[in-house]
Amino acid sequence: MPVSDHQLTQAWAEVLRLSKVQPGQSVTILTGAATHPQTLRAATMAAQAAGAVVSRVDLPPVNAHRSLSRDPLAYLGETPLTGNPAAIAALKASDLVLDLMTLLFSPEQIDILESGTKILLAVEPPEVLVRTVPTEADRARVLAASEKLRKARQMRVVSDAGTDVTFDLGEFPTISEYGFVDEPGRWDHWPSGFLFTFANEGGSHGTIVVDTGDILLPQKSYTTAPIRITVEKGYATAIEGGIDAQLLSEYMSTFKDPEAYAMSHIGWGLQPRCHWSTLALYDKEQTLAMDARAFEGNFLFSLGPNNEAGGQRTTACHIDIPLRNCTVSLDGEVVVLKGKVVEGAGQ
Ligand SMILES: [Fe+2]
Repeated sequence: MPVSDHQLTQAWAEVLRLSKVQPGQSVTILTGAATHPQTLRAATMAAQAAGAVVSRVDLPPVNAHRSLSRDPLAYLGETPLTGNPAAIAALKASDLVLDLMTLLFSPEQIDILESGTKILLAVEPPEVLVRTVPTEADRARVLAASEKLRKARQMRVVSDAGTDVTFDLGEFPTISEYGFVDEPGRWDHWPSGFLFTFANEGGSHGTIVVDTGDILLPQKSYTTAPIRITVEKGYATAIEGGIDAQLLSEYMSTFKDPEAYAMSHIGWGLQPRCHWSTLALYDKEQTLAMDARAFEGNFLFSLGPNNEAGGQRTTACHIDIPLRNCTVSLDGEVVVLKGKVVEGAGQ
């Protein structure tokens, strides 16, 4: 359903309020070739209405000759800020950067955040943004679950489809995404509403079965048959199944990088305004599929880098796979039971 400028501007106003934008603060809107014009318009008006000093930095895209997909999360290589000290300086001098371009995790982004600048990524279509305006309740719920995950030393995930995998925890921090940036140096993504951490290096073991109907990203497809992934010492050592397994496996092989097969982030979704079924309703070109990453009760795991959390692994390949119907437990306590968040646990 189309969104009015007024409604989208109101949504931005709420997100900027939650992000504690004050009159006189510097808000820089980072844009690129794929920035949605209505989102840019609404963000600009809302930031001006909040009394901010608004600037725009527009950068040309990179990586097109290397990536097999138009999805900005499909190839984690250089960013438009790589070797661009002028743009980096402008962003560092800002109180808040509204990333309508998709900067991605990068040394440049970490550098900007360490200066105290806040960054909020928002690139989903306007209709997704207005459906998923974050709330204080989202923040409270995600932070409560994150506290539990932070203390855990082992995560186990099982499912009737055949998943049985354990992750040793403790080496890496827990990261919370609730959709706004209320503290200096914070990065977040609107929409979100989930939490994750990374398994200890070499500390992932077992089998993950991606069941029929689960989602592959960046493929943005629902699987038509189960994919069986064997995990040994932190790496996917076998990817077996039918056509979906072959498509995933061949895609990953094109990166020619053994680190592509490493376990990356692991966590679960807590966002009731995001849905498993939504991906079927959007053009793949128009969405990052944040619904799939955030829907309540998913178990989201990733293959690829762990530098986002301070690890040493960088790889251009990044696969996200949200699973339904999994039971997730932390040190034996169930926090998600067969795809349903257990109220009172992990929150
Ligand atoms: Fe990911």
